[in-house]
Amino acid sequence: MTDTSRVLIFDTTLRDGEQSPGATMTHAEKLEIAAMLDEMGVDIIEAGFPIASEGDFRAVSEIARAARNASICGLSRANPKDIDRCWEAVKHARRPRIHTFIGTSRFHRDMHSLDMDAMAERVHEAVTRARNLCEDVQWSSMDATRTEWDFLKRTVEIAIRAGATTINIPDTVGYTAPVESADLIRRLIAEVEDAETIVFSTHCHNDLGMATANSLAAVEGGARQIECTINGLGERAGNTALEEVVMAMKVRGDIMPFATGIDTTKIMNISRRVSAVSGFPVQFNKAIVGKNAFAHESGIHQDGMLKNRETFEVMRPEDVGLAATSLVMGKHSGRAALRSKLKELGFEMADNQLNDVFVRFKELADRKKEVYDEDLVALVRQNEGES
Ligand code: KIV
Ligand code: ZN
Repeated sequence: MTDTSRVLIFDTTLRDGEQSPGATMTHAEKLEIAAMLDEMGVDIIEAGFPIASEGDFRAVSEIARAARNASICGLSRANPKDIDRCWEAVKHARRPRIHTFIGTSRFHRDMHSLDMDAMAERVHEAVTRARNLCEDVQWSSMDATRTEWDFLKRTVEIAIRAGATTINIPDTVGYTAPVESADLIRRLIAEVEDAETIVFSTHCHNDLGMATANSLAAVEGGARQIECTINGLGERAGNTALEEVVMAMKVRGDIMPFATGIDTTKIMNISRRVSAVSGFPVQFNKAIVGKNAFAHESGIHQDGMLKNRETFEVMRPEDVGLAATSLVMGKHSGRAALRSKLKELGFEMADNQLNDVFVRFKELADRKKEVYDEDLVALVRQNEGES
């Protein structure tokens, strides 16, 4: 029997996250991040968009070969060339998945110059083709939250009849609100024919800052897959942040009794690594993974924390892989402390590089009382630029 309290985590850092302008990762970095996602218990890794470039194709193929636990998914538009190329890349995985999509709202129908009937035909053809290649097929009605209800229901039913195993309901432009998000999934489950045979998935963008709330509301409404990225990396204001939805369900299991397979102690490490390889800093006050998420400065807070940490913390730093104490770097710090701090920030370096950064660090520490994490990142970047 399916465990109805289990929520699948579908990570799209390497696809939707990488689509973020300026977040391009190298081949080796993608493989490294995929291995970390696999290791931390992500259920499905969307490894890329195989038709987009030779590089994407190669990355998805290699990730598919290397993955030990997760399903490996590739994205494809709803056309034969994309779908076939996607299959060629993901077929090496133990558990391959093809994810095919088309925008179904009137904006997208206009963009493609397709009327509803023509678009419905595309859905049927795409899912049928994908299903003939792969047993695990995900269909996305892109811009679902701005698609007319009758047409959304129609596309979803066509996809299910054609063999889709997961139906994704994207809030592509971050427009929906939590109450609508829950209602939409609930209504789909109640009214779509054969809804019980597939998994409903939620995919939210953060344009209005509601991606996490909308994803959790969708789960409340019956979705059992959340699509998300590390640090919320993604186009415009980003996607739902993996660390936020996972920790919200863990900490508030009393009102959200859902389980994931994520080893949450690996969150901090992967957050730092994704930030380092994408070049996207994590904002200081970002929930769960921000530099200040477990920092206390004011006297009252410190006093409260010393007496009982629950006074000002709803979760333990160890649960997200953060050491309870943080290293404060100053002129008395040595090379070993610097190495450990840089590792914590996502930089593993050879001895000669470390020596160079250490010299720069000592010069700075003589001028500044405390050397902050961002100073160290700047020193590393400066060093990289000059070496
Ligand atoms: O935001 C979106 O609609 C997407 C789809 C391709 C799922 O990323
Ligand atoms: Zn998206």
